[in-house]
Amino acid sequence: MTNHVTLTQFIIEQQRGLPGVSGTFTLLLNDVVTACKKISHLVNRGNLVGVLGSAESENVQGEVQKKLDIITNDIMVEALNWTGHLAGMASEEIDGIIPIPSQYPKGKYLALFDPLDGSSNIDVNLAVGTIFSILRCREGAEPTMEDFLRKGSEQVCAGFVLYGPSTMMVLTTGHGVNGFTLDQDIGEFILTHPAMTIPAETSEFAINMSNQRFWEPPVQRYIEECLQGTEGVREKDFNMRWIASMVAEVYRILTRGGIFMYPYDLRDPSRAGKLRLMYEANPMAFIVEQAGGVCSTGRERILDMNPTGLHQRVPVILGSKNEVERIVGYHLAKG
Ligand code: AHG
Ligand code: MN
Ligand code: MN
Repeated sequence: MTNHVTLTQFIIEQQRGLPGVSGTFTLLLNDVVTACKKISHLVNRGNLVGVLGSAESENVQGEVQKKLDIITNDIMVEALNWTGHLAGMASEEIDGIIPIPSQYPKGKYLALFDPLDGSSNIDVNLAVGTIFSILRCREGAEPTMEDFLRKGSEQVCAGFVLYGPSTMMVLTTGHGVNGFTLDQDIGEFILTHPAMTIPAETSEFAINMSNQRFWEPPVQRYIEECLQGTEGVREKDFNMRWIASMVAEVYRILTRGGIFMYPYDLRDPSRAGKLRLMYEANPMAFIVEQAGGVCSTGRERILDMNPTGLHQRVPVILGSKNEVERIVGYHLAKG
């Protein structure tokens, strides 16, 4: 029989060699796994359990919430708030810090999450996901906003779960990126994609072309050159994908390379982009860099950004190194 490595076994073995490791982190990760298994089950059951459709409410960012945005948020909070591993949480769906109820012990980590990414896909039965970021926190004190607003480079772990044809968890603790497939028969994530890497070269891009007229000149130039194909300066044809779920796009890029962009957008100058720094861009940037890719706003490395708010939006350009660097070069050259 093949000796399958479970996610828990993998993390225990990875953490064993590290100094000052107490095992709390492994337990915290198991809490996240429990929540994501519940979400996977619900997403899979769909309207058999009545979870599809709009909740007819808005979140803090003025976006209409799906029923599953709210349900998945509750699943994450309820799986994580009582186990004693966290000092606090933050979520796309909740305005401020989510405290640990006073009856439960507090731990030394903070969790930030997008409980359901790509939620516009849910009613059309396409891929969605969950994204999470783990930070270390001062022990003993109630966490403040300052404790949450740490640079992405300070994350101790980042991961996402893709609820696609199979449910997969992709994870980094700063020692490379590994992918695990949920074996529904035994209820365990099994290591199926060790040491994932993003090839430096690609000829596939992902961008929402309907926003083209709002892009800045460097992004206009890059996409224009891709579209010219063999007849243009790039002298090769490009392929395009847009799944409208960042989790699915990043998973594809981890598998076969590519570039994903939700760039600076002139539609609303008060919003620097669409994606949120703390629970979308930062965790994905950590994963992408650990897999050998690059993640930038076009002007700045995402992981170096000083956050200003829990729901801050940033432009995101990520994926294969040579292509992201080319676009950053176009920004430096001002078009
Ligand atoms: P969320 O469902 O958590 O709000 O995130 C959706 C994000 C991201 O996953 C995706 O890449 C992008 O929004 C899609 O945006 P468009 O609908 O503008 O294409
Ligand atoms: Mn999202
Ligand atoms: Mn979401």
